[in-house]
Amino acid sequence: MGSPFLFLLLSLSFSLPLSSSLDTIREGKSLSIEKSKDVLISTNGVFSAGFYSVGDNAYCYAIWFNKPSRGKNQTVIWMANRDQPVNGRSSKLSLLKNGNLILTDAGKFTVWATNTQSLSSVHLSLYNTGNLVLQNMEGVTLWESFDFPTDTLLPQQLLTRNTRLISSRSQTNYSSGFYKLFFDNDNLLRLLYDGLDVSSIYWPDPWLVSWDAGRSTYNNSRIAVLDTFGNFSSSDDFTFMAADYGLELHRRLKIDYDGDVRLYSWDEVGEKWVVSWQAIQRPCNIYGICGANSLCSYIVGSDRKCSCLPGFKMKNVTDWSYGCEPNFHLSCNRNESGFLLLPRVEFFGYDYGFFPNYTLDQCKNLCLQLCNCKGFQFTFKQEGGSSNCYPKTLLLNGYRSPNFKGDLYLRLPKRNIFSIAKFVQDFNLVCSSKGTVQLDRTYYKSRANGIVKFMLWFACGVGGFEIICIFLVWCLLSRTHQGSGADKQGYLFAVTGFRRFTYAELKKATKGFKEEIGRGAGGIVYKGVLPDNRAVAIKHLNETNQGEGEFLAEVSIIGRINHMNLIEMWGYCAEGKHRLLVYEYMEYGSLDQNLSSHAFDWKKRFDIAAGTAKGLAYLHEECLEWVLHCDVKPQNILLDSNYQPKVADFGLSKLQNRNLENSSFSRIRGTRGYMAPEWVFNLPITSKVDVYSYGIVVLEMVTGKGPTRGVHAIDSGGEPEPKTLVTWVREKRNGTATMASLLEEIVDPVLENNYDMGKMETLVAVALQCVEEEKDRRPSMSQVAEMLLIEENDSDSDHGVNL
Ligand SMILES: *[C@@H]1O[C@H](CO)[C@@H](O)[C@H](O)[C@H]1NC(C)=O
Repeated sequence: MGSPFLFLLLSLSFSLPLSSSLDTIREGKSLSIEKSKDVLISTNGVFSAGFYSVGDNAYCYAIWFNKPSRGKNQTVIWMANRDQPVNGRSSKLSLLKNGNLILTDAGKFTVWATNTQSLSSVHLSLYNTGNLVLQNMEGVTLWESFDFPTDTLLPQQLLTRNTRLISSRSQTNYSSGFYKLFFDNDNLLRLLYDGLDVSSIYWPDPWLVSWDAGRSTYNNSRIAVLDTFGNFSSSDDFTFMAADYGLELHRRLKIDYDGDVRLYSWDEVGEKWVVSWQAIQRPCNIYGICGANSLCSYIVGSDRKCSCLPGFKMKNVTDWSYGCEPNFHLSCNRNESGFLLLPRVEFFGYDYGFFPNYTLDQCKNLCLQLCNCKGFQFTFKQEGGSSNCYPKTLLLNGYRSPNFKGDLYLRLPKRNIFSIAKFVQDFNLVCSSKGTVQLDRTYYKSRANGIVKFMLWFACGVGGFEIICIFLVWCLLSRTHQGSGADKQGYLFAVTGFRRFTYAELKKATKGFKEEIGRGAGGIVYKGVLPDNRAVAIKHLNETNQGEGEFLAEVSIIGRINHMNLIEMWGYCAEGKHRLLVYEYMEYGSLDQNLSSHAFDWKKRFDIAAGTAKGLAYLHEECLEWVLHCDVKPQNILLDSNYQPKVADFGLSKLQNRNLENSSFSRIRGTRGYMAPEWVFNLPITSKVDVYSYGIVVLEMVTGKGPTRGVHAIDSGGEPEPKTLVTWVREKRNGTATMASLLEEIVDPVLENNYDMGKMETLVAVALQCVEEEKDRRPSMSQVAEMLLIEENDSDSDHGVNL
């Protein structure tokens, strides 16, 4: 395999040039900022502690990784005085005889101290773990840097009730920033935005109660720790594993200046840090990210974009966290204000109040009466008529979402409105991935390059003798690497644990594509087993003439989508004409294979309906790309070993049917019986097509009847009508007086009347709303998820749902 050699190389490279340095100082000694040799280096050569330049003649006492190699920016993991840098002359770190460790600025003021005392003599050592430790003669630890983290947690370093990670202000400004990772009073590990004017929790999602977020408040030990293999666990039950879990790499968990928490691991070949986990996938959900009076949006070519609201300009052109300020003066006089409509824009929080059933005019009047009303959020209700009004005292955490059912009305001086109103932008929502986000995922080039770079670097650093040794080792390495490149590559595809497979690997995993488990328009699905014993479903896409680059761009988007109710993609293969996708394998197969089973009780059906709604809602509204599925049907809803549903086959729009010229994709996907009317009539396609198909699936689960089969309503031509199931249920509803008797007539006889009436009512009511002919009368997927969630959480209630 060669990794022991690589390790040998690296340890050589770190220890040789530095062998004259110390890892320990004794009492009475000081380290001077002016002596470049006054740097502590851990015995393994991985960490250094010394004065680190943070600006023009400004220094912090810091610990950093010696990787990347010198010449580039070092990776700082701890700072003593991040908020009070010292002068580049005469500053010192001194270990006093009384046991105190102090940092003095320009020889005079103490800017930082450990405030320790000891009668016996003390010494300060930099450990191989990256911990800077002050101990006395008896070996008692008086102080250690692990107890005072800045923005980074190293393996084995505990995050406790007394410690928190605080982000730095920006990429180049190391002082304390606005984002914090800490245990709150409920024993939960949380992320907090503690900004210039306001503060709010943003992770886990603040509207989730702890158990919905998978957390427990009961364990008050408040401890979290990361191990070297990449497993993180916290006393509130939060855990995660690095995408490259299992490999003993250098790792660090950092709260970055953008408010996201990321786990990095060191890629020795590429000589860089790669992300192997991150807390937040959708950066617009990080509060305060764009400051006040601005909008966060996702754009092609980068992760997110901040922009000022119309009529506003950036307060500080180098820093979005200051947000935007108005270009105008707004007087309190109500006759001088007007409103500008910003469609589908939402701002979280800072409501003056909640005013239900307001008309637009009432809401406008309300806002005009309040001197500090900056505008209002106006959300529409389902059945037309009344709407909700939320006047805003502050415009923070703004973003645009195509499925947000509401608008923002921005308050502006009347005379400025027309000059400002250039802001008309709608979202391009079609069943293709137009307007999707290009992901910033790193694909690795050939490993030989890495080695060559490494050699060059090395040649500069060390003498000729080593070069010869290394050359010999490298020859060995490059020989052993051929043929085993693919499996070593696994950990390089960090962020999502997503990787590229060779065709040979997949052929082997499926034993020559033997076991077929599914077949659709897009391709054939086979069962396989990876070398690490994970079972996989491998979809061999039909031949296309799509280029590899385009394929990769698409696949990387799907690979990044991550939700418990969406099937996870583990990798892909693009070789010659072959295009394959590798998914997790679902033991219980698809919904349609289970529908007729007696074991398939009402509870499972309800949970599947709720889970599927959550998965689709995530696709539509929450994930970066606003993906429409366009082919929701029982065959595409898979069940795991707990009967949890996972929606499959999403995001494949561009991967399929490339070869059919001039056929816009949206007319190709979709299955008879599940397609919304607007599809058939060639009308614009929106996320409501998925809502319609979902409604049909729910009706199928309730009645046990297929969308076209088993219903005795046949149109004049003798052909089964696609909407017969819907028509049948509607007719039954119109013909029955009570919900109970309707349920009796339509509910799947297999259930033998063993079901919860309230929940079944909700399901039927929701499904019927979903299959409304008029798309605007259908709810959004997130509304569906919400309706079912409410029902799930209070099972004893007997809401009457009006049909
Ligand atoms: C609380 O969490 C800690 C750390 O994860 C664990 O060691 C301990 O057993 C937990 N206590 C209980 C009562 O679960």
